Amino acid sequence: MNKEDKRVTRLLAPGPAGIAEAAGILRAGGLVALPTETVYGLGGLATDPRAVAEIYRAKDRPSFNPLIAHVADVAAARREGVFDVRAEKLAEAFWPGPLTLVLPLAPGATVCDLARAGLDSIALRIPGNVLTRSVIAAAGGPVAAPSANLSGHVSPATAAHVLADLDGRIDAVVSGGACPVGVESTIVSLLDETPRLLRPGGVPRAEIERVLGESLAGAVEDEAGQPVAPGLLASHYAPRASVRLEAETLREGEIGLDFCGRFADAPGRALDLSPSGDLTEAAANLFSMLRALDASGAREIAVAPIPEEDLGEAINDRLRRAAAPRG
Ligand code: TXA
Ligand code: MG
Repeated sequence: MNKEDKRVTRLLAPGPAGIAEAAGILRAGGLVALPTETVYGLGGLATDPRAVAEIYRAKDRPSFNPLIAHVADVAAARREGVFDVRAEKLAEAFWPGPLTLVLPLAPGATVCDLARAGLDSIALRIPGNVLTRSVIAAAGGPVAAPSANLSGHVSPATAAHVLADLDGRIDAVVSGGACPVGVESTIVSLLDETPRLLRPGGVPRAEIERVLGESLAGAVEDEAGQPVAPGLLASHYAPRASVRLEAETLREGEIGLDFCGRFADAPGRALDLSPSGDLTEAAANLFSMLRALDASGAREIAVAPIPEEDLGEAINDRLRRAAAPRG
């Protein structure tokens, strides 16, 4: 985070005025930490790629992981994800509550590409905290919220924990006391025929299996504890085209993912992540531009150099994965 981006972080009281303030900040693209029954979440409007980029920035996260979209009710969840019979059963049994469902993305979904890290699936949950549900409802859209701590630190269970990490980096924290569950939500993927436990959490596995009437398969995890995906459960978006990094110029047959106007002499052959060199804007555009370039049918995407600083680190992490040979 640059010095000039320092914000004044306000502590909002858990009442109607605080709810209205928090919702107003979210609607304006700001960041508000919100209490949930599991841990405090660092919320930003999930439909706004700039707000989502700011979430990664505030956390100093060196990579883009898909985020959970928090919604106020089942009707809102249905706009974002495709519910099958299993999803209906689990939502009925455990929502609001510490269960996150990973579902196929609904055709009219509003959550932006960056919040999903480019995936065609969506992680959804209705938090148990009624105050936070009111903020989400008043914000008028799903709220993306990873745990409200700096990357690598432990998840916060009180507003004081949040401030210890994020004071000066976010616009507000709604104080809602201590989180009763204290561990993150259980994540279940319903993308495959077999339901999968991606992360153990607040709802015990056995309770989920009882409601489903079948056992949960495990997730394969990498060293970072991120789910690695067998079959349909791709955990990372990868373009079909091959990707060439650190491109100084566009070669014959390539289209460009530009930064700061480097390919400006090839108009119509490139999309610029940020003509002005703003890394937050670049992060906000990353997945949608990669998709647009991929959809053009080009076989090779050349990517202009992007500085390895601030959000550039996460952007480059994503691009290096996109450029890696796949098997
Ligand atoms: O209790 C919680 O879940 C807290 C509170 C704030 O709600 N949130 C939280 O978010 O733990 P976060 O960002 O720390 O964890 C989200 C997890 C990540 O492991 C991510 O990989 C997974 O959800 N996830 C999100 N979308 C996914 C998707 N489409 N497919 C697979 N995994 C997904
Ligand atoms: Mg976390």
